[in-house]
Amino acid sequence: MTWLITGGAGYIGAHVTRAMTDAGERVPVVVLDDLSAGVPARLPAEVPVVQGSARDAALLKRVCAEHAVTGVVHLAARKQVAESVARPTYYYEENLGTLATLLEAVAEAGITRFLFSSSAAVYGNPDVELITEDTPCAPVNPYGETKLAGEWLVRAAGRAHGISTVCLRYFNVAGAAAPELADTGVFNIVPMVFDRLTRDEAPRIFGDDHPTPDGTCVRDYIHVADLAEAHLAAARRLSEGAVRGDLTVNIGRGEGVSVRELIKVIGEVSGDRRAPVVEARRPGDAPRAVASAARAAETLGWRARREVREMVESAWRGWLLHHGRRSGDRP
Ligand SMILES: NC(=O)c1ccc[n+]([C@@H]2O[C@H](COP(=O)([O-])OP(=O)(O)OC[C@H]3O[C@@H](n4cnc5c(N)ncnc54)[C@H](O)[C@@H]3O)[C@@H](O)[C@H]2O)c1
Repeated sequence: MTWLITGGAGYIGAHVTRAMTDAGERVPVVVLDDLSAGVPARLPAEVPVVQGSARDAALLKRVCAEHAVTGVVHLAARKQVAESVARPTYYYEENLGTLATLLEAVAEAGITRFLFSSSAAVYGNPDVELITEDTPCAPVNPYGETKLAGEWLVRAAGRAHGISTVCLRYFNVAGAAAPELADTGVFNIVPMVFDRLTRDEAPRIFGDDHPTPDGTCVRDYIHVADLAEAHLAAARRLSEGAVRGDLTVNIGRGEGVSVRELIKVIGEVSGDRRAPVVEARRPGDAPRAVASAARAAETLGWRARREVREMVESAWRGWLLHHGRRSGDRP
């Protein structure tokens, strides 16, 4: 029973691969990654890594046959919201074109388990206290649209070809299970604040007049190691045949943390407590986006265990490894 992990050399993929191959689990896996953003050194030496695209039908056919693949975790995608706004056709081609080719290959190979990396971006900006999986989806950028349309495609292919499918909607992912696994991109708030501090600049807050307790945006942060464990739980359910048809699940802590609170924790962890500067709100920023974590607990038996401080501490260790310190800092 081998799992194909597309995008397995990426930030989240490397954590998922490690969780699946860790002592105690030892699920056989093969990683397919085009290395456009992936780093094979993140992976354990014994994991086979095939360099190539999940859009390459012939390669998919060969990999599935050679490794006797019985399940797929599909993480490979483009994920930058701003880039998706600037290059929508590229995002649709990359995220949906690849998914269509992959699902075709999965059906042809007779694979019956499929797990798709979705995102809270499918919801857009709903005005609710807790976002449940039944909250209407209304993405506000092409990235979120590709994830929502991707879910539709996954479910339709699942129905047509008898594939059991799980779509995991990740909320705000942060942290690292080990410094060398940290996210090296600067696209999310935690690395963005680290980047400001490293440049000797104050962190920025976009708007402190939102309708939230301290006026700053509230988000649901999830440790990437918890997220990886959610994949493991979902893969286990799929392997046991416990998912009939399709399952769509939020992956978050179910707790909101404001930008001001997060920056305070980052200040404590980094030792750089400089006051943030408040700038104008950014158009399209939802005041609050917090998951209901109830369905994940019920259906996957999974719950996040790691707190925000642990996310920030682990992310900071990774940042120091990859980006170094400012001159003059004490070690
Ligand atoms: N990081 C987040 O906060 C977040 C939040 C929600 C959802 N997601 C989703 O999780 C998934 C993984 O994200 P990540 O943060 O690890 O990103 P990442 O860029 O670190 O990883 C993506 C990996 O996929 C590979 N890849 C891209 N296109 C490919 C293709 N056509 N064929 C083979 N490999 C390809 C890249 O080389 C990279 O290793 C993505 O689907 C993303 O949309 C991420």
